[in-house]
Amino acid sequence: MTREELLAVARKVALRAHCPYSRFHVGAAVMADGKVYVGVNVENSSYGLTLCAERAALAAAISDGAGHITHVAVACIDAPPDAPLNDRSPCGACRQWIADLAPKAVIYIDGASQDFLIADLLPYAFELPETEM
Ligand code: THU
Repeated sequence: MTREELLAVARKVALRAHCPYSRFHVGAAVMADGKVYVGVNVENSSYGLTLCAERAALAAAISDGAGHITHVAVACIDAPPDAPLNDRSPCGACRQWIADLAPKAVIYIDGASQDFLIADLLPYAFELPETEM
């Protein structure tokens, strides 16, 4: 699947977002071993419990036993076409999730003219030191 195809999946799934409060629809599509997993933002009446699209997609991949996540695509379909990158980029919490679960993934942001690695978006990301389990 190409960059444009994965972004198209993210845009399409964004229509299913549950966002009655912000009315800001976000869709995410992550690819692992050629399989695609999607997620949308799911808002909650207790606003802070809202789940972002990227974390929903990553959780779907992990729940399916997905292996190496190679690509993450995000589409904020309500951001105006001329909106700055900040208006369509993964939030801080989602960046940490990507750092943990898809550290090597190429990140496609709908409407951005370049692609990113998590090291670009979240330099010096927190990593838990190896611990004896
Ligand atoms: N949102 C995401 O789904 N992903 C992000 O990385 C940024 C924000 C959602 C959360 C909320 O439902 C809406 O966008 C407005 O913040």
